[in-house]
Amino acid sequence: MASPGALARATALRREIERHNYAYYVLDAPTIPDAEYDRLFRELQALEAEHPELVTPDSPTQRVGGKPLDGFAPVRHAVPMLSIRTETDTEASGARAFDARVRKELGLDETDLPVEYAAELKFDGLAINLRYEHGVLVAAATRGDGETGEDVTQNIRTVHAIPLRLAIDTPPAVLEVRGEVFMRRDDFERYNERQREAGKPTLVNPRNGAAGSIRQLDPAIAAQRPLSFFAYGLGEVQGWNNTPATHSATLDALAVLGVPVCGERITGLGATALIAFHDDIAARRDQLPFDIDGVVYKVNRFDLQRELGFVTREPRWAVAHKFPAQEELTTVLGIEVQVGRTGALTPVARLAPVFVGGVTVTNATLHNQDEIDRKDVRVGDTVIVRRAGDVIPEVVAVMLGKRPDPAPPRFNILQSYPVCPECGSHVVRLEGEAAARCTGGLYCPAQRKQALLHFASRRAMDIEGLGDKLVDQLVDRGLVRTPANVYKLNLETLAGLERMAEKSAANLLTAIETSKATTLARFIFALGIRNVGESTARDLALHFGSLDKLIAATEADLLAVRDVGPIVAQSIIQFFAEPHNLGVVEKLRAAGVHWPESTGLQQSAGILAGKTLVLTGTLPTLTREAAKEKIEAAGGKVAGSVSKKTDYVVAGAEAGSKLAKAQELGVAILDEARLLALLKPNNKNGQHALDF
Ligand code: IVH
Repeated sequence: MASPGALARATALRREIERHNYAYYVLDAPTIPDAEYDRLFRELQALEAEHPELVTPDSPTQRVGGKPLDGFAPVRHAVPMLSIRTETDTEASGARAFDARVRKELGLDETDLPVEYAAELKFDGLAINLRYEHGVLVAAATRGDGETGEDVTQNIRTVHAIPLRLAIDTPPAVLEVRGEVFMRRDDFERYNERQREAGKPTLVNPRNGAAGSIRQLDPAIAAQRPLSFFAYGLGEVQGWNNTPATHSATLDALAVLGVPVCGERITGLGATALIAFHDDIAARRDQLPFDIDGVVYKVNRFDLQRELGFVTREPRWAVAHKFPAQEELTTVLGIEVQVGRTGALTPVARLAPVFVGGVTVTNATLHNQDEIDRKDVRVGDTVIVRRAGDVIPEVVAVMLGKRPDPAPPRFNILQSYPVCPECGSHVVRLEGEAAARCTGGLYCPAQRKQALLHFASRRAMDIEGLGDKLVDQLVDRGLVRTPANVYKLNLETLAGLERMAEKSAANLLTAIETSKATTLARFIFALGIRNVGESTARDLALHFGSLDKLIAATEADLLAVRDVGPIVAQSIIQFFAEPHNLGVVEKLRAAGVHWPESTGLQQSAGILAGKTLVLTGTLPTLTREAAKEKIEAAGGKVAGSVSKKTDYVVAGAEAGSKLAKAQELGVAILDEARLLALLKPNNKNGQHALDF
């Protein structure tokens, strides 16, 4: 038998945990750290394990999901769960027609005042009836046929936003709350991401996610699905003091009891208020954190609702006003590719024109080859296209039953587009990459602007003044097609451009001229070879010493370079295998771009060759960038975190966890003075200094 003390403690813990739950899941404003919450939760679990008689149906420990069920028991609703009439006219006239019907039924004419309405969102999930007896959640059921639903109490308890106990000292004997269980878009995306990573099946859309979770026989699985809830009405009510007289006051009262109620709702007079709400929500539909189906208008006063009554199973006092559909059926007329700024080939379905989400859609993205394969989209197929807001329309699924007979062939990007449709350079798909790409980075018109901006950037050829506005103009007017053309620009051409005074044109020409004397590392980086960043470019320059050696390098040669793996090696080979790129490189050299060359393989000569260093804290004189350059010039490599492979940590003032980690792992530690001493050109004791 549990002592009075244990009982009091369990009750207090329950109250406190539910308070934190409410703050976290409903108000989105956590009140304690997760660890503290876990501690309270474990204490309650332990108490209940020791005294099973203390377990109550509203205990937060009951949210984790119990034993799998064989099936759902039928539940007869005390008050039938109705549906709402849907207004399919998505224009303002739809709202006016509803208001006109209501006024007519109430016997109002033009001289009477406008009717007060409550307008709210039509949530896109699963309708649920929550039954609270004396303030405790005792049962939850789906709508079913409206008369009889399914008992989903166990699964509903796993939805953290639903209170297991109402926040009221003298609760009504019976209070049934009706509302929608749904999945937020971010929760849906996150859940699917996790499933994909685990190689498990994903949910089709948030609505199916919510409905499928609640109708899941194993509550432990339901418990893992992140669900939300909003109340929109009442079922049976017994003994509720001060029962509200309007719909809006009811929702306000439910919110006070701790039941989640959506803030996106208004009350207003007549059709004008309804139309304003419809327009406002339509404009913000895509920014809402969850999917909606439309909006719902309700006559606000309950006495007027009673007066209006029902037709068949639909109340005359409510209507669902839809938005234009976001998904429609159409057919795929063809599949083409678009070349993006980075050279990625994106497959695009050309569609028979269809009106979706308020606009006519004729193209939809197919993302990449994997997506085409996964959805098995073929020319001639009937498909569902989806357009949500400003997002690019996409093909959601193929209606396989409507596929032409004989079936059209599968679509393969590399087979259909062995060369780039923009420039004729060859197309490749590197291992581990989703996109097929054009390899003509220096030559392809689709990649021109991006390539030029990168070429001119500070860490590449460092042509000051050649920014995006200018690149836009030069490319759009056909003055520059490849980086080689930059070296042919003259004062007259430049001065003729918008926002280009003679002075700045002259400055730009000087910068272009100066850039001709560069380094091999900068030049390699400037080429914009995929997967070749600044530090790889430096390694390549150091290793090969000359551009021609790099161009002639085999995969094995490239793999011998520090940090170059198969993907980087392939990227380099593909780049130089494209004659268009070699042509541009030759023109650049012919225009006078030059750099000192060497015999290569110098990295072993550096005092830090093969060593990995980590910088931490503030050094007395060197900036982090300067220290890095010096270390790299001596053949060393700078890494971001300390591990067993780290050779030295260079620590300055306020060095934190990295220094501690180095000490823990026994990694040698240098200060700036020691580093500089080591790097002195004539340091003969270098090796000794490094021998700790
Ligand atoms: S009121 C008597 N309000 O729409 C009116 N329903 O066809 C009862 N729904 O399955 C429903 N959001 O799940 C109401 N704000 C809202 C709603 C809403 C979504 C769903 C509900 C029901 C269907 C009605």
